[in-house]
Amino acid sequence: MITTEADMSGRPMRTVVIGSNGRLGCELLAAFRDHGEVIGLARADMDLSDPESINRVLGGLEYDRVLISAALTAVDYCESNSDEAYAVNAEAPRIIAEISKKKGAHVTYVSTDFVFDGTQTGPYSEYDQANPISVYGASKLRGEEHVMNTDRANLVVRVSWVFGPGRPAFPEWIIGQALEKSDLFLPGDKIASPSSSRDLARMIKLLVTGREGEPASDIFHLCNTGICTWRDWGQFCLEEAIEAGVPLKAREIKPNLVSDVAAFIAKRPLNSALATSKYEAWTGVKPPSWQESLSSHLYKSPLLNESRELACG
Ligand SMILES: NC(=O)c1ccc[n+]([C@@H]2O[C@H](COP(=O)([O-])OP(=O)(O)OC[C@H]3O[C@@H](n4cnc5c(N)ncnc54)[C@H](OP(=O)(O)O)[C@@H]3O)[C@@H](O)[C@H]2O)c1
Repeated sequence: MITTEADMSGRPMRTVVIGSNGRLGCELLAAFRDHGEVIGLARADMDLSDPESINRVLGGLEYDRVLISAALTAVDYCESNSDEAYAVNAEAPRIIAEISKKKGAHVTYVSTDFVFDGTQTGPYSEYDQANPISVYGASKLRGEEHVMNTDRANLVVRVSWVFGPGRPAFPEWIIGQALEKSDLFLPGDKIASPSSSRDLARMIKLLVTGREGEPASDIFHLCNTGICTWRDWGQFCLEEAIEAGVPLKAREIKPNLVSDVAAFIAKRPLNSALATSKYEAWTGVKPPSWQESLSSHLYKSPLLNESRELACG
């Protein structure tokens, strides 16, 4: 169904997606295409580390809502480049929120499960205390605070372990590793909820387009349903690849510990599972399971398709 949202004057509602080349950003752009007008801004259009660029580009646009999906997401890079992490993940959202407030536009800031320290047992709700243990997590929490302090009507959505068609992520990486190596290890002591970028974009759209015309505000946790260890997430990917006939060298991933991974510079929360009950109560919709969404993502992926086609002759 094509829905055209319009403001009081009849002008179609205009949505700006910042980070429209990213994994989630490109799905947001697609999700809002049938909802008024949508404008995508990639790094080449607006550099979030440069306040002058944000003021010039965003200041010159008329829009009704803005979705901030862009971020400096490489956790270990952020740990060693904290000025840049705070500029992109915290200062840029502050400037965007201030420009948007002047225009009367609603802001949605995409944040992360890494705002938590991971010491809790059980999934985190929106009411649990954030206590980041990395520069990435702390810079994103600062971004959340700036956006919400600028206007309490704004929205923060925290997401976790994102995969999707727009840009290769962990599933593509682990299948690539299994093609090359016979021995694979992944942490069995870290848990979270894998999330499809396509599902997340749909969830964000439901929140932003709102109930009776009012967009959601405050903080919401969004992810697919279900929790798993990092190792089990990887194993699931391998099993889908094996099923499609991909000639993997490694068929079984052995569990290790996060502390065994020498390459990690930043600390990771061991538990960053998110509870989606607030979203479910607000929308009346339960997110699909991560296995269902990952399976359907991998089924369509070129790597698995190629193997299936070869197997079928
Ligand atoms: N990926 C995950 O597992 C995960 C987990 C929790 C939360 N999140 C959050 O979810 C959101 C979307 O993540 P994602 O997976 O879509 O990440 P992504 O694919 O890395 O996309 C991030 C986008 O931000 C852009 N960007 C980075 N620095 C920029 C700058 N200085 N100026 C302008 N644009 C800049 C990147 O530009 P280029 O295209 O030029 O690289 C990229 O398009 C982020 O806010 C992230 O913090 C992600």
